[in-house]
Amino acid sequence: MLGNVISEFNCNTEIIMGNHSVQSIPEIIKSGNFTHALIVSDEGIEQAGLLDIIVQQLSNANIDGTVFSSVEANPSTLTVEACYKVLQESHADIIIGIGGGSPLDVAKAVSILGTNGGDITDYEGINTVPKQGMPLIAIPTTAGTASEVTIFTVITDHNREYKFTVGSRHLAARWAIVDPVLTLSLPPSLTASTGLDALVHAIESYVSKKAYVISEVLALKAIELISGSLRTAVHSGDDLEARYNMLYGSLIAGLAFNNTRLGNVHAMSHPLSAKYNVPHGIANSILLPHVMEFNRVSNPNKFSDIAIAMGAVTAGSGTELSRSLEAINAVKSLSEDIGIPSTFKDFAIDPASIDEMADDAMKSGNIQVNPRKTKNEDIVKLFLKCIHNENSTKVPVSN
Ligand SMILES: NC(=O)c1ccc[n+]([C@@H]2O[C@H](COP(=O)([O-])OP(=O)(O)OC[C@H]3O[C@@H](n4cnc5c(N)ncnc54)[C@H](O)[C@@H]3O)[C@@H](O)[C@H]2O)c1
Ligand SMILES: [Fe+2]
Repeated sequence: MLGNVISEFNCNTEIIMGNHSVQSIPEIIKSGNFTHALIVSDEGIEQAGLLDIIVQQLSNANIDGTVFSSVEANPSTLTVEACYKVLQESHADIIIGIGGGSPLDVAKAVSILGTNGGDITDYEGINTVPKQGMPLIAIPTTAGTASEVTIFTVITDHNREYKFTVGSRHLAARWAIVDPVLTLSLPPSLTASTGLDALVHAIESYVSKKAYVISEVLALKAIELISGSLRTAVHSGDDLEARYNMLYGSLIAGLAFNNTRLGNVHAMSHPLSAKYNVPHGIANSILLPHVMEFNRVSNPNKFSDIAIAMGAVTAGSGTELSRSLEAINAVKSLSEDIGIPSTFKDFAIDPASIDEMADDAMKSGNIQVNPRKTKNEDIVKLFLKCIHNENSTKVPVSN
């Protein structure tokens, strides 16, 4: 019998990975005879001295650059608009995004406006961008979102208090420079939350309804790399091997979810970020064990695989069901060890907003690929569980 037919594997990006790979910028500039670069970033990247590294590389390539460094976390349509204006004034012919997912997403959004014009909200949804975006180099400085290789950009529309996604092959960066050295300056708390976001990508992709052999191999390897290195990256931030494994793990998790989308965690985290500005990684980390508990029954063997990949159990131990529960416990232990909060108490979530957040979550395409069929009332229950923190203890396992 034929299984799922694989029509394509999305990766429109040339990946240049390795310590000090940022030094390949002049070669790229020369290969395209580019004359002026727009650098898109944020204040934290500037303060960490990472912007200077890019400016130096442009100087090595003998071209000028214009800097836009006002991207905020969960970037808004207004920021995309402001950055697009700077692009037009600068006459840049190449864009360089450097930072976490926020600057990279703005750089990607602006790259499609540069060739298609209009407003970023015009392209909300999947496959709505007519023309390929401008040449773009994406340089991640967090091991988290994998925006450097994905076909998505996530932007917040404050008028609607809504975080929307644009998904198109036309907005993928042309080059991803994936240099672990640039993540050494990431402080422990951000290493923890962005790293857990990467783990969520890997787990949601692995159990997605759209998972297939290529995505599964990538996602499972990502789970292994991330769960094996995140504690060290958080507690010994200058350990370059751990940083390398984290960035590699987040990258391949991105390649996986580019082809499967994600699941209920991401569908639910977007309204929390849009309404309460909860950082993306924190929202996902708190939601993850609750959503795993909800999903586990739909596919215990995959959750058993996750527990094994996380090193929590061995293949022959206990039953498939008991191993699947251990996956949830392994995620909780990891979160606890790296200091991730287990509740939303710091974000003053108003229970009266849950119905509206559930409506917004249900609009996400991620709900359709979640392994367990999900109704609006399921999302309401999950939000209530997270907000009332009915999840602080480990799940009892009996074999
Ligand atoms: N495009 C995609 O496929 C995709 C996937 C998942 C999430 N996202 C989006 O990405 C955004 C989140 O991105 P993020 O979690 O990477 O965080 P972020 O880009 O918002 O960065 C968080 C903070 O980390 C700082 N920082 C980043 N790298 C640093 C470094 N090396 N040294 C010191 N400080 C550093 C930044 O200055 C910033 O203050 C959200 O908007 C989310 O929705 C996009
Ligand atoms: Fe994410």
